[in-house]
Formats: sequence, structure tokens, C-alpha cells
Amino acid sequence: MRSLTYYVAASIDGYIAGPEHQIDAFEFSPELAAHIVERYPETLPAPARAHLGIADAANERFDAVIMGRHTYEIGVRAGLTSPYGHLEQVVASTTLTATDPAVRVVDDPLAAVDALKAGDGLGLWLCGGGSLAAALADRIDALIIKRQPLVLGAGRPLFAGAYAPRRFELTGREAVGAVTIETYRRAAISR
Ligand SMILES: NC(=O)c1ccc[n+]([C@@H]2O[C@H](COP(=O)([O-])OP(=O)(O)OC[C@H]3O[C@@H](n4cnc5c(N)ncnc54)[C@H](OP(=O)(O)O)[C@@H]3O)[C@@H](O)[C@H]2O)c1
Repeated sequence: MRSLTYYVAASIDGYIAGPEHQIDAFEFSPELAAHIVERYPETLPAPARAHLGIADAANERFDAVIMGRHTYEIGVRAGLTSPYGHLEQVVASTTLTATDPAVRVVDDPLAAVDALKAGDGLGLWLCGGGSLAAALADRIDALIIKRQPLVLGAGRPLFAGAYAPRRFELTGREAVGAVTIETYRRAAISR
């Protein structure tokens, strides 16, 4: 069974972007870039892969990505309608109509994730954002949080949903430059 991993950068206070979707305060140091290139090259969008000379890098951990409409539209506004052409791309939305043929729009992300999990392949990457993560919270098997040494004060939360405690177990913590990579798996008894 394929697993769903929420792999995401977050501030100390649990935000994945500012209130107006700002991500400029998040650092992308050479150490962090090297770490991602080595371990998670598939999580870099096509222009970044080209820039780093790894356009044809093999997928290490994920071969499908699911993202919420807001997250997807950030790339679209920059002219990137198929940001992760090296992955199966799924966008959750009830309002998106026309999009890139390389991207599948689903209005029921829970059903889409269940179907993907039942298939063969590498892992599934939940790219974000917090609204979709909250909707998929019961399907998340692991979290990989690139914790930035930063307090934003306000912004888009890691999980933008209702109060619903779920327990995860810390499985690793690694410093990569100034960023701490925290990994968690869903606890056997998760509530
Ligand atoms: N730090 C990082 O690593 C990272 C990674 C990814 C994203 N982000 C940031 O996260 C922010 C976006 O997060 P967000 O929480 O505002 O939005 P989001 O989760 O990206 O997108 C929300 C939209 O997704 C669709 N959606 C969510 N749940 C759904 C469901 N159950 N069924 C159908 N559609 C569903 C809806 O689209 P419709 O309204 O069309 O129905 C909803 O409005 C951006 O600022 C982005 O930069 C940061």
C-alpha cells in the first residue's frame, strides 16, 4: 500500500506561508538545496530542476503529488501549469475547470488518495496547502517538516481545519544548515 506523506516547509509557529501567500522569508540555503537534490529531487518544480542540472533525476520517494487549488495556482500565475511533469499531478478543487492536460483535477481528494494508495508505485506527496492537508488529515501516514528557524506571526497554517487532535511519533530529526528536518509517522493510536 502506498503511503501519503505531507512534505512541507513550516515556520516555528506552524505557518507554511504568510497571510498573502508570501514565502520569501523561508530560506533556501545551498545546504538545503543539496539535501533536497539528494533525497527528494522530485519535490522540486521543473524550472528548479533545470536550474540545478537535475532535470532528468529519477524519483526517489514519490511518484505522485496532490496539491490544493491555491498551491497549484501560485505556479499557474508564474506560467507553470505543469510544475511536476515528472510526477502524476492531482489538484483538489471544486472550482477549477480548464487546466493543463498533465494535471488531473479532483473534487473528492479523499477518494482520489484512496484510489492512488491502492495502486502500485512510489509514495504519494501531499504538497499542501493547509486547507487540503486538513481535508486529508486522516489519510496522512507521515510528515516531513522542513522547520525554518523563523516566527511568522500570522499566515497559512500547516493544517487549516477544525480542532481535531491526531497523534504522530517523531521518527527523525536532522539539522540541514539552519533548517531542522522533522519526520513523523502516524501513531498506532492516533487520537
Ligand atoms: N511551505 C511549503 O512547503 C508550502 C507547500 C505548499 C503550499 N504552501 C503554501 O500554502 C498556501 C496555500 O494553502 P491554502 O491552505 O491556502 O490552500 P490549498 O490547500 O493549497 O488550496 C485550497 C483549495 O483546495 C481545494 N480543496 C481543499 N480541500 C478540498 C476538498 N476536501 N475537496 C475539494 N477541494 C478541496 C479548494 O479549492 P476550490 O476552492 O477550487 O474548491 C480549496 O479552496 C500558499 O501560500 C502556498 O504557498 C507552502
